Amino acid sequence: MPNQKPISHTILILFLSQILLINVAQVTSKSTIEPCTNSDSCNALLSYTLYTDLKVSEVASLFQIDPISLLTANAIDISYPDVEHHILPSRLFLKIPITCSCVDGIRKSVSTHYKTRPSDSLSSIADSVNGGLVSADQLREANSITDPTVLDVGQNLVVPLPCTCFNGTDNSLPAIYLSYVVKQDDSLAAIAASYFTTLTDLMNVNALGSTAIADGDILAIPIPACASNFPRYAADYGLLVPNGSYAITAGHCVQCSCGPRNLNLYCMPASLAVSCSSMQCKNSNLMLGNVTVKQTGGGCNVSSCNCDGIANGSIITTLSPSLQPRCPGLQEFPDLIAPPTTVTRESTFAPAPAPQSDGSGLTTPKSSVLPSTGLLPGFSPANGPISGIASGASAACSLVNPLPATLVSALLLLFVKLMHPAAL
Ligand SMILES: *[C@@H]1O[C@H](CO)[C@@H](O)[C@H](O)[C@H]1NC(C)=O
Ligand SMILES: *[C@@H]1O[C@H](CO)[C@@H](O)[C@H](O)[C@H]1NC(C)=O
Ligand SMILES: *[C@@H]1O[C@H](CO)[C@@H](O)[C@H](O)[C@H]1NC(C)=O
Ligand SMILES: *[C@@H]1O[C@H](CO)[C@@H](O)[C@H](O)[C@H]1NC(C)=O
Ligand SMILES: *[C@@H]1O[C@H](CO)[C@@H](O)[C@H](O)[C@H]1NC(C)=O
Repeated sequence: MPNQKPISHTILILFLSQILLINVAQVTSKSTIEPCTNSDSCNALLSYTLYTDLKVSEVASLFQIDPISLLTANAIDISYPDVEHHILPSRLFLKIPITCSCVDGIRKSVSTHYKTRPSDSLSSIADSVNGGLVSADQLREANSITDPTVLDVGQNLVVPLPCTCFNGTDNSLPAIYLSYVVKQDDSLAAIAASYFTTLTDLMNVNALGSTAIADGDILAIPIPACASNFPRYAADYGLLVPNGSYAITAGHCVQCSCGPRNLNLYCMPASLAVSCSSMQCKNSNLMLGNVTVKQTGGGCNVSSCNCDGIANGSIITTLSPSLQPRCPGLQEFPDLIAPPTTVTRESTFAPAPAPQSDGSGLTTPKSSVLPSTGLLPGFSPANGPISGIASGASAACSLVNPLPATLVSALLLLFVKLMHPAAL
């Protein structure tokens, strides 16, 4: 079978085993390492499970990221009043958007720092506060700590976090990589299914010889993404937005979304836009995100005002005329969710655990996995995600959509598939 990955994974990835000494037990946990040679960085995601109730702003400051980016990366509606101070519940699963750099020949994120507090230990910072994204040993090494039993309060520690870029592609299609911390009940098949990828792809990406994974391993999970075509001189060059989410760029002036129907990046003025440079396309009356269509004999004449990033504080816009066979439909937006207040299966965004076998050869899904009503707390049964191009700006930021029926059917499908592994 042809392997479409750029360079053979056996060369690109070293599956590193770290021996961690935790108490008396010896635990081996693995993570996927990507060697790198250039200094280019990329967008990446971390899987993170809250260790306690935290405000949106507290989670953001833990990883030193923009709270709005945290919300948009998780498709959480930012139009809620005082959303940055909203308290997110303990055990909530979030995707943390980070910048992945190249440090000492290895892809990692080193922009996160942690200030130690009383009663912290290296393992509590690693396992609890950082949700297993870093190990106590890595913390010790990165900070040249000789005696881990003596931590000064207020000490500023670098927290090296795992990430991969793989050229922003998976099987030649744009992708962003999520560093996923494997949990006890996870199976590779369930992870593949919940991230709409295949077992083979996950095994290729992570250079796995078998489907065996263990609690604490860190996997790189490719998530289809919309790639920007911004020029190199743009400050936000290389922007990648994962399917089903939003990103805020150009100093909170521009919001870009990806999905659900196609992987074409769609950017428009953000609802937060306050003092922003002009977002009108030159020599036209079109604003960023506006599309005009005109049916002609030869097809559909489409003009769209697109974003090309930000440079020198100005938003670069380009008017792209094109002749398409058919006129495009209305712009659709990824579903937004209300800021979560309780942890439900759906609000964790995490893979469903594999159903347990009862020994009879049949498996039954845990009832807690299936949404009982199809609605999350705080959801209003508003209309679907379709909104007019003209009204897109306000619609995208205020819509609160019901859980899409497709998710429910996808969950059901997953269970059917797990019951018949051969069908995979
Ligand atoms: C990296 O991705 C770009 C497109 O984003 C592609 O043109 C290029 O060939 C890729 N490089 C490798 C080494 O796969
Ligand atoms: C993007 O996500 C939507 C659900 O939000 C899904 O239906 C669609 O298949 C995804 N697209 C790709 C290319 O994965
Ligand atoms: C398409 O529309 C643009 C402006 O609306 C116009 O300048 C251009 O000539 C049109 N192209 C075709 C092929 O009709
Ligand atoms: C940004 O400004 C600098 C000097 O102010 C100029 O040299 C450069 O060409 C500008 N870049 C763009 C993309 O306009
Ligand atoms: C153009 O986009 C702006 C901002 O998104 C929006 O307010 C306006 O209604 C749009 N106009 C048309 C003609 O689509």
